[in-house]
Amino acid sequence: MAIKDRQRLNDHYSQKARSQGYPARSVYKLAELDQGGRLFKPGDKVLDLGAAPGSWALYAAQKVGLSGLVLGVDLNPLAAVYPPPIRFMAANVLESPETLAKLKAEYPDGFNAALSDMAPKTTGRKDVDQARSLDLVKGAWEWAQELVRPGGLFLFKVFQSEEANQFIETLTPSFNRVKRLKPKATRTRSQEIFILFEGLKAIG
Ligand SMILES: C[S@@+](CC[C@H](N)C(=O)[O-])C[C@H]1O[C@@H](n2cnc3c(N)ncnc32)[C@H](O)[C@@H]1O
Repeated sequence: MAIKDRQRLNDHYSQKARSQGYPARSVYKLAELDQGGRLFKPGDKVLDLGAAPGSWALYAAQKVGLSGLVLGVDLNPLAAVYPPPIRFMAANVLESPETLAKLKAEYPDGFNAALSDMAPKTTGRKDVDQARSLDLVKGAWEWAQELVRPGGLFLFKVFQSEEANQFIETLTPSFNRVKRLKPKATRTRSQEIFILFEGLKAIG
């Protein structure tokens, strides 16, 4: 796709997001990944890692409703203080074992889903950016392992690399199903891909 056409498509998604009350165009990636409503049920608890500015949280909140919970975690605050079922905690997913321990105690039955749309600040060096993206996914998996209940799902974004493929392979035996997805709302040339793991197996 030509740069101009890609820019036009990005502008289209950004404008559409604003007009529909979402702070970022990333909502259309999650909507596509959700394939018309298969990821979340009313009452679900969703952990949203890298939640700012809040589009995914708003999308998931509509699906889980007031009987559910969307717990957003990010280094940065959300675009606004959103009402329940959204709750927000500021934390660095890579460096907050105490927050993770607190959440484990607070939600002993765990979450139905862990999402990670976390992205590193890109440097322009492909190998560095890929390694940082994978570090974030590994951090998200630390949280998901502790907080997602059996049967739950883990959906994450990662920059494609051989190391990322290897990591995906190591996770595969822990779940019933895995899918690699590249939503249309993702920039065509972007290295990012989404991995959906479903049906977390119980340990032991
Ligand atoms: C692409 S944005 C997420 C957009 C969000 N899903 C939405 O729909 O509004 C990536 C986010 O990852 C967050 N992030 C990056 N590294 C992080 C870390 N170590 N801990 C927590 N959040 C992190 C960034 O602050 C940024 O807000």
